[in-house]
Amino acid sequence: MTTLPPFPLPATPSIPDEHLASTPALDLFKLAAAEFIHSVLPEVDVEKAFEGVESGKTGKNVQGDFTVAVPRFRLKAKPNEVAEKLAAAFKPTPYLASVSANGAFVFFNCQVNALASLVLNQVNTQTYLTPDEDHSALSTFANLSLSDSGADKPPAGLKLLKKNGYGTNQSGKGKNIIVEFSSPNIAKPFHAGHLRSTIIGAFLANLYEANGYNVLRMNYLGDWGKQFGILAVGFERYGSEEELEKDAITHLYDVYVKINKDGETDESIHDRAREFFVKMEAGTRLIVLIIGLAGDEEAVALWKKFRDLSIVKYKETYARLNIYFDLYSGESQVSQKAQTDALEALQKSGIVEESQGALIVDLRKYKLEKTVVRKKDGTSVYITRDIGGAVERYEKYKFDKMVYVVASQQDLHLAQFFKVLDLMGYDWAKTLQHVNFGMVLGMSTRKGTAVFLEQILDESKRVMHDVMRKNEDKYAAIEDPEYTSDKLGITAVKVQDMSGKRINNYEFKWERMTSFEGDTGPYLQYAHVRLSSVERKNAPDVVLPPPAERPSTIDTSLLTEPKAREILLLLGQYPDVVRAALKSLEPSTICTFAFRLSHLISSAWETLIVKGQPRDVALARLWLYVSAKDVLGSAMRLLTLEPLERM
Ligand code: ARG
Repeated sequence: MTTLPPFPLPATPSIPDEHLASTPALDLFKLAAAEFIHSVLPEVDVEKAFEGVESGKTGKNVQGDFTVAVPRFRLKAKPNEVAEKLAAAFKPTPYLASVSANGAFVFFNCQVNALASLVLNQVNTQTYLTPDEDHSALSTFANLSLSDSGADKPPAGLKLLKKNGYGTNQSGKGKNIIVEFSSPNIAKPFHAGHLRSTIIGAFLANLYEANGYNVLRMNYLGDWGKQFGILAVGFERYGSEEELEKDAITHLYDVYVKINKDGETDESIHDRAREFFVKMEAGTRLIVLIIGLAGDEEAVALWKKFRDLSIVKYKETYARLNIYFDLYSGESQVSQKAQTDALEALQKSGIVEESQGALIVDLRKYKLEKTVVRKKDGTSVYITRDIGGAVERYEKYKFDKMVYVVASQQDLHLAQFFKVLDLMGYDWAKTLQHVNFGMVLGMSTRKGTAVFLEQILDESKRVMHDVMRKNEDKYAAIEDPEYTSDKLGITAVKVQDMSGKRINNYEFKWERMTSFEGDTGPYLQYAHVRLSSVERKNAPDVVLPPPAERPSTIDTSLLTEPKAREILLLLGQYPDVVRAALKSLEPSTICTFAFRLSHLISSAWETLIVKGQPRDVALARLWLYVSAKDVLGSAMRLLTLEPLERM
């Protein structure tokens, strides 16, 4: 409330002052309604009234742009009578055109004129920031230096979210958050769980940024453990330096599969693998002490090569997905010290017990079962690395919040280590959050073969290319079919994943996700492309002036059709949708908005015509479409998609 302009609002809101420009347009109308309610019912203060004014309601019973349920004010008088009283007392203002009462509800309608002017001005001024403003808004995380191990700068060419753009807000200003996501295991398949973590996690990182947070995007690789011993033994037998350089991920997986097969009949492989892993663990310890034994160093060097070359390959795929990380961390990066410290602290606080040489934490009191925190042979385990890792991250980054984007299969694991950190007395343990998701059923290529993400993306691209080829004329007009089909394919995969509630399982369906009809990725891209083409199609007869000149030269009061009003109201809701998504942490909140906007636009083409209209009407409508394109594009970028201009 404090950032809202003082009442009474200026009578002509067409030239926004600083406040008008930064307060979401719909809030101004809600505030006007709240002020009116307070003037009729002095016992309801403006703040309370403001909270009671809801926008974005749909349904048969909704008879206005804003809805107020009178009972929520808890007044002595009967709600129906209060509603009538409000309706009777109303006189139009520059913001509000009419009020009606229906039972215990009051509905406000805004002045379309003010709505059009405010919404379009805001989209305009906030979307077309000067490059300088955009840059200065880039967030930097606490003490993170981007030269930290494996750090990526957003690679050139990524289509990222516009910082401070329309729809964003500063509610998280000054807060540092780590979003840990993707986290595949080296030498093992990048399975559907990793794909979901990658897609949802990258979206969440964007979402936090859109809400003003400083975000650190962290990839916690599965790069430690006995499987590297197996891999090393396998590499001796089947490895090729050349293949490794070419495509580490595929090669290491091949080697891993072969040696595991051998291991089924040859127990000595496992013995040697265990030995190797013991050396790896010793090696890191010794490297820290700068002593080093030849054998251990070699083990570590080989492992490091596997890791580095895998990261090179991962980065390529992430870039293809329009996703990047600030930090490639991983299980290997958790120091031995952090883990032994953690074990010591646990022992001191008396929550561990020994059982057959292993150490165990008993969390049955919290309905979280028992779990091993150190193995019999003294080697570290997954959960201990997570405990030590969290402590290290806190010490290094002093985050205000940390989110782990991990499949719901690991619900127990996450709950256990959060609980352990809490029991160790760490205050910040309560700022940890597990954002989980359900399974993908049947993710494979159409031939039923894929294990690698790349294969899925290639196949999706192929399918989209086939779909595009079916329309020969259009296909001939596409500048770069390779690029376009790849982007469409990726959009299809991502949108299929994000359009449902996270926790639901879904079936991976080629047909459905690559269709241009229904709520699919290609449909969103099509809507964006069509919006992009309006400007091209109307040139040179009707050309929008540069953004800075639009507010003073375009007469938005000409947008009188009901469709225009609907579009304006929906565009106005976008800032609220971005806030709502932060509460739900559901990508579907943004997907649903994008679909609604796309459907609404597709139903508007016949009534809101630009071609052949008087110039001022054409300009106003064109501006509306271009604004819709900007907002749809922002929503798509928030979802990590790359909106296409042509297809
Ligand atoms: N690499 C793990 C896996 O594939 C996921 C890591 C999840 N994050 C964590 N901090 N435990 O199962």
